Amino acid sequence: MIGAGAREHALVLALADDLAVTALACAPGNAGTAALAEQLAVDVTDPNAITKLASSWSADLVVVGPELPLVAGAADAVRAAGIACFGPSAGAARIEGSKAFAKDVLTAAGVPTARSELVDNPGRLDAALNHFGPPWVVKDDRLAAGKGVVVTDDLEVARVHALTLLDGGHPVLLESYLDGPEISLFCLVDANATVVPLLAAQDFKRVGDGDAGPNTGGMGAYAPLPWAPESLTADVVRQIVVPVVAELARRGVPFTGLLYAGLALTTAGPQVIEFNCRFGDPETQVVLALLRTPPAGLLMATATGALAQQPPLQWDSGAAVVVVLAAEGYPGTPRIGDVITGAEGPGILHAGTRRRDDGAVVSAGGRVLSVVGTGADLAAARVHAYQRVQQVHLPGGHYRSDIGLPATRRENGRFAGR
Ligand code: AMP
Ligand code: GLY
Repeated sequence: MIGAGAREHALVLALADDLAVTALACAPGNAGTAALAEQLAVDVTDPNAITKLASSWSADLVVVGPELPLVAGAADAVRAAGIACFGPSAGAARIEGSKAFAKDVLTAAGVPTARSELVDNPGRLDAALNHFGPPWVVKDDRLAAGKGVVVTDDLEVARVHALTLLDGGHPVLLESYLDGPEISLFCLVDANATVVPLLAAQDFKRVGDGDAGPNTGGMGAYAPLPWAPESLTADVVRQIVVPVVAELARRGVPFTGLLYAGLALTTAGPQVIEFNCRFGDPETQVVLALLRTPPAGLLMATATGALAQQPPLQWDSGAAVVVVLAAEGYPGTPRIGDVITGAEGPGILHAGTRRRDDGAVVSAGGRVLSVVGTGADLAAARVHAYQRVQQVHLPGGHYRSDIGLPATRRENGRFAGR
């Protein structure tokens, strides 16, 4: 396993439970994965270093968690060395790595998405902002870990964000605003274009309760969606995911691995906000908490083009909620080095943590822990997640108190979302 977040801890935890797994290593990992897997050092941005490590460790399968190594070509390098790899080639990872490429693919595939315009010259900014009107959606065209986007009704805020990017020499993508609840749908995709959807989830991207404050990498999530129409997943696979998979193959960059569709359910139907080339964080923490099918064979089948031969996925009938405990200052510069207590035992997935020489676990990043609760329904899962997070102590730590709350008020198939 390549990566160091709570997403990777969730994957390592699921793999450690799988009898098909004989040995497990995580690089670079964190204080949580170190308890379950051998911890190895690696520079995740260096595809050759990842490949050397996998060869010397005699890995049968390399699972790449984050987007950075994938965009840099880690999966290509690992496969070239004859090792199976869960994750797309650099060419296919551009669906996340370049917003302009993604728009081009979506348009060619005939998939509904926001109108957009790339602005690379400050002289054209005001006309472009005027043309879109409020609410403004202003994006950094590069990978930005979810933090490069500003959505605002305030023209001045939109202008300042765009000008800051342009002054740094980075093009800005303006988009039309997509109105409606957002969902994340993960699909396993293999080289034969077999698509297997996982449970749909909802992510909470803003830092504060009621979706206040700036965007983050994700402050919490829940799955499944009790309010969604039963046909939602099948409709999205048919109308959106399959055409995109086909278009990538047509361009000579077939996608294998985890294709993440970020969608807005608008009154005109589902529209694409973004595609990612890897498991989402924190949605993975809830999706895997409900997956009963052992994951190793599934990941291997995805990596080797054998998904069509897999039996249907088995899921728990209940619900899962994840609450992210973030460090003081996040999503700005987080304070690190604070001692974390009360985080031992089940339900806790580590992200930005490190074990100090004296044995204490200390914060080492912005999103520090993912706290997962499960239950018979969403309301019960929330109670368990929030009981657990209250037992954890992190000086200056903060979390949202409303993860999954709006949806508990709208169960029984009513279409609502947030
Ligand atoms: P992205 O980095 O493209 O995933 O955007 C991060 C977040 O910004 C999304 O999850 C949405 O909440 C919001 N967002 C991005 N694009 C749009 C859009 N066109 N309309 C409405 N909200 C958006
Ligand atoms: N949960 C958002 C992401 O992984 O990009």
